[in-house]
Amino acid sequence: MTQKMGIIGWPLGHTMSPTLHNFLFERHGLDAKYEVWPTQPEELEAFVSRVREEKIQGVSVTIPHKQAVMKHLDGMSFRAKSVGAVNTLFWEDGQLFGENTDVTGLIAPLRALQKQPETALVLGAGGAARAAVAGLNELEIESVFIANRTRSKAETIAHDLAARVVDWEKRQTTTPDLIINTTPLGMAGDMQDMTPWPGEFPSGCVVYDIVYNPLRTRLLREAEQSGCLIIEGLEMFLQQGLAQFRLWTGQEPDPDTARELLRSALG
Ligand code: ATR
Repeated sequence: MTQKMGIIGWPLGHTMSPTLHNFLFERHGLDAKYEVWPTQPEELEAFVSRVREEKIQGVSVTIPHKQAVMKHLDGMSFRAKSVGAVNTLFWEDGQLFGENTDVTGLIAPLRALQKQPETALVLGAGGAARAAVAGLNELEIESVFIANRTRSKAETIAHDLAARVVDWEKRQTTTPDLIINTTPLGMAGDMQDMTPWPGEFPSGCVVYDIVYNPLRTRLLREAEQSGCLIIEGLEMFLQQGLAQFRLWTGQEPDPDTARELLRSALG
């Protein structure tokens, strides 16, 4: 029987997850299909019951369900608990578990750096920023700062996880070794010409933008011109998806072909 997997969220606009997962299933010769399940908040509980009844093998969870889904599960990873959000459902020993592979995806390219940063600055304070701070804590980065337009949201994350708050207006007075943008500044559309870091970069800084459309945001282009090492948001998207695939299938995917697929899908 064909195994079912898919993504829930509301509204579910364009997502590259089906492209990635269906490609991986085919490459690994798996009889599985990844579907798109738009699910409103009031339908979430019934959806989780359906996952149990139909033994749906794996689910990607996106906005607005990442927190709400937690109370419907049998258990959660330490990582999902510390972030306070679940983006992946999977089965283990007959129990429905939650994991947060956004953190796995975010830290994968950082683990590959030759030199680990000592000071990191996270820009923004939404769900992605929370995953970023949790990831930086997991990597044991010495000093993690967070700056957000609405300071109180940064304070909440700093309180829950290990980080210190910097005023949004003063963010450029810091000299981090790593800057991670989790705001939509630079995203295709109205914000494409914007950057969360106008002006000079600290020398030798690594700049990571989790925005992946466009592939090279203004932030990344300017950072590269300044001689910084850059990490594209597509890498985080790819790595969070590969981590899901491992949880659902127990198989080890090849990152290079999947990366090429996503790059060409984004144009
Ligand atoms: P996600 O869950 O994907 O991280 P989000 O919760 O919408 O998304 O968070 C987006 C972050 O980008 C927020 O921290 C937001 O700042 P506010 O808390 O002040 O709303 C930040 N952001 C959005 N637009 C911004 C802008 N024009 N300038 C600066 N920050 C912005």
